[in-house]
Amino acid sequence: MRKQRTIQDFQKMKAEGQKITVLTCYDYPTARIIDGCGIDMLLVGDSVGVVFSGYETTLPVTMDEMIYHTRAVVRAQPKALVVADMPFLSYQVEVAEARLNAGRLIKEGGAAAVKLEGGGNIAATIRAIVDMDIPVMAHIGLTPQSIHRMGGYRVQGKRDEQAEQLVKDAHAVAEAGAFAVVLEGIPRALAERITAEIDIPTIGIGAGPCCDGQVLVIHDILGLCEKYSPKFVKRYGDARTLMTDAVQQYIREVKEGEFPTEGHSFS
Ligand code: KIV
Repeated sequence: MRKQRTIQDFQKMKAEGQKITVLTCYDYPTARIIDGCGIDMLLVGDSVGVVFSGYETTLPVTMDEMIYHTRAVVRAQPKALVVADMPFLSYQVEVAEARLNAGRLIKEGGAAAVKLEGGGNIAATIRAIVDMDIPVMAHIGLTPQSIHRMGGYRVQGKRDEQAEQLVKDAHAVAEAGAFAVVLEGIPRALAERITAEIDIPTIGIGAGPCCDGQVLVIHDILGLCEKYSPKFVKRYGDARTLMTDAVQQYIREVKEGEFPTEGHSFS
């Protein structure tokens, strides 16, 4: 039987060169399906705000929304480790508030770990949360909550000084006690260097093939997102066409009296 994933497993997987698979997940039925496929980690990402709620950015997502979606995923009793994103403004203002909000995602949401965006600037907060025995996954590079500073969703670390800063950030979050770090939207050679230099697993998204693991947004791999498809996404299915065909057939059958039949009726 597949056993429950722990943060220690991910450390071991890095040491053994086994790739770590991660997908975002925001609801119960999807968690049942993805977990049944054997995924290692489910990330209740604040990308929920964009792909599920239809916001333009992740910035409006609230703690209550994150707790709601985390609970739905946890109710599926996945074997995968469930990591919940800390939304914008839930950890940046005061360390005490960050600890409280991380605790809510564990206590009320049922997550096993939290993720927050930032490098050296947020290392003290990571340390403070880890000191409460809450595992933290860090996230550096293209950090969507910093969209206004970055001037859009742009690849980070292309210039030498920016790349050096990202290497420092990766070391800072590892030293602060993060159990893993997401590397988003950075050149592949930089991701390879960071992966070789730090002891904790790197989880790439738009960071090339040399990270210890990979994360993608479930809506992107299923072709459910019509808004925007970044270069680093690979579409593994076309759920949009599947849904469109099914719904069009349903509409036609109801209109034409083909459904419901006697077989779908009670006597
Ligand atoms: O919110 C999210 O889905 C994420 C991943 C894309 C890493 O942070």
